[in-house]
Amino acid sequence: MTDEPDRYAVIGNPVDHSRSPAIHAMFAEQTGQRMTYTRLPAAEDAFTATVERFFADGGRGLNVTLPFKQAAAAYAATLSARAERAGAVNTLIRCDDGRIHGDNTDGVGLLRDLTGRLSTPIEGRRVLVLGAGGAVRGVVPVLLEQGPKHLYIANRTAERAEAIAADFTDLGPVDAGGLAGIGGGWDLVINAISAGLAGRMPDLPAAAIAGATAAYDMIYADAPTPFLRWAERHGVARRCDGFGMLVEQAAESFHLWRGVRPDTRAVIAALHPAPQGRDDTV
Ligand code: ATR
Repeated sequence: MTDEPDRYAVIGNPVDHSRSPAIHAMFAEQTGQRMTYTRLPAAEDAFTATVERFFADGGRGLNVTLPFKQAAAAYAATLSARAERAGAVNTLIRCDDGRIHGDNTDGVGLLRDLTGRLSTPIEGRRVLVLGAGGAVRGVVPVLLEQGPKHLYIANRTAERAEAIAADFTDLGPVDAGGLAGIGGGWDLVINAISAGLAGRMPDLPAAAIAGATAAYDMIYADAPTPFLRWAERHGVARRCDGFGMLVEQAAESFHLWRGVRPDTRAVIAALHPAPQGRDDTV
């Protein structure tokens, strides 16, 4: 037996911008858990080696971020049903028998932020998702379970979006295509194009955003993101960045690891890097 605190981390590339250590430190303080949570950078070709070393050294759990979510799904010995369905993992857990289990809390995190805090329903609405990376794989099944009227995935590489849509057609009305051909009439537009991280957005047709009532950027930053500025220019009243999703998915991971639920609202209020990036008045 050792009396070292249990060790957790977030693995990604890049990972220096991640707020997850501050979020989990607040969760641990709120709930009286003895643990540490750090950043774990990994070279693009060194995901498996870095994860193996972390767990061999006694690490208990990892969050997985860009660009390793699909690699993490391949790495885990067992997967939850939702992680298997998504083909993407954002939470790794070392079980008591040493097995590494993978789960995906991204979808639930987005849903909590959209429907709970922002009161933006999905049922019966027309939803446009921009991007087709690992994050989208995690959220599409959860969005479809809410019963949207139509969900369309648009991506620079149309084939990637089409592949995701094809995987989930049994869950609801979903289809996909490239960025240029997006039609109009969306109620909610959700951005998961990672170029926003570098402060850029690809050129998108105005029809994609015109008339929408809500815009959600799964990316967050210390100023309103390019996607949210674009939505504002097109008169979208409700706009929100992904910091709430980050905190909600973190809370779900924390619950999987520690068995207790932290108070997310207090953590979002305390740690959001740019309160003006959210519109919590809706
Ligand atoms: P994540 O796990 O966060 O979803 P990812 O798997 O790296 O990250 O996916 C990044 C997404 O951003 C993809 O949809 C990517 O489009 P492609 O599939 O065509 O690569 C999109 N993306 C990144 N940079 C982009 C850019 N400059 N213009 C348009 N789309 C971009």
